[in-house]
Amino acid sequence: MKHATAVTIESIGSFVPQRRVTNDQLAEFVDTSDQWIRSHTGIGARHLAEDTTATSDLAVQAALDAIERSDLTKEDIDGIIVATATPDYVGFPSTACIIQDKLGLNGIAALDVVAGCTGFIYGLEVARGMILGGTMHHVLVIGAEKLSSIVNWKDRNTCVLFGDGAGCAILSASGSADERRGIKQTILYADGSGADCLIVPRGGSKAPLQGVTVAAEDVTIAMEGRKVYNFAVAKLAETIRTLMEDNDLTIDDVDRIIPHQANSRIIQAAANRLKIPMEKFFVNIEDYANTSAASIPIALKNLEDQKGLKKGDRIIIVGFGAGLTSGGSLLVW
Ligand code: ACO
Repeated sequence: MKHATAVTIESIGSFVPQRRVTNDQLAEFVDTSDQWIRSHTGIGARHLAEDTTATSDLAVQAALDAIERSDLTKEDIDGIIVATATPDYVGFPSTACIIQDKLGLNGIAALDVVAGCTGFIYGLEVARGMILGGTMHHVLVIGAEKLSSIVNWKDRNTCVLFGDGAGCAILSASGSADERRGIKQTILYADGSGADCLIVPRGGSKAPLQGVTVAAEDVTIAMEGRKVYNFAVAKLAETIRTLMEDNDLTIDDVDRIIPHQANSRIIQAAANRLKIPMEKFFVNIEDYANTSAASIPIALKNLEDQKGLKKGDRIIIVGFGAGLTSGGSLLVW
């Protein structure tokens, strides 16, 4: 195949578990309320996977959906990149390898990317680099999470925020005819000094589980909500502003902004800071809560289903999360 000069998103797919848990249902076993959760986060419900379901199971469904919505067959795929903070196994094997096997695509390259809720953006950029380098031509970039498996269901500060789900984009090499479309620019950022702000404290090499009795809070999400909030608002605004400035765009030139769906107040605060109307932002957090690396592809698929994405539209996707990390891309759909 001729060397790719551009990388386009060929199709987008998603999957969320059937079980939907509303705020009122959560309030039956946690000291919280629909009113508090909605007013502080914009969340109305979340979808939660069954105990027997793994992240790879969600991811496979999203991948099959993306393949079905493309002009490609499964056999055209030659790479799988999975962004997840909730892999099937700690360390190895990668969840990407499990997904590859479940899809029956044995032989093609498969790897995981760990960048918290920014993982999908990091994954897209890894895939884009590999496609432009000629290593791959059609890559599944999957964001998939079973966050319910690392949530402390007794901690109302965090358990109300998260949901399970998966989204998948197929990235394809394209030649000169398609050069106006595709991923135009990506910005990636990380500040490891904020690692403690959003962390699962035990289970890795620093604090192994072997031979110790652990409490629930040791192996579930610990978060300094205010610090994460401040970082998120600042980086959301800065990333959007930089992508527009670097590409000589005003907000009128941008059709839609799809932010990571962590908290609608974060999005509102960034919109205020940039003086961008909220209508520019696509927000679906009410139905899904925060699905971490899956939230942006799930939102893209939702928007496409609502006929909200047309060929040629200029879209900014932007994420932030554990690490701390952030990043964004300018896409021409
Ligand atoms: N229900 C009822 N009350 C609650 C709940 C709840 N679920 N959670 C916290 N509260 C209480 C607190 O106990 C506190 O009570 P107190 O004043 O008596 O101590 C009060 O509400 C206010 O708590 P704050 O922490 O000040 O609430 P805040 O307005 O800052 O909102 C929130 C908290 C929503 C977590 C906010 O800080 C936030 O959005 N942070 C960013 C979180 C985030 O997005 N994380 C993920 C991003 S990265 C990723 O996606 C993995």
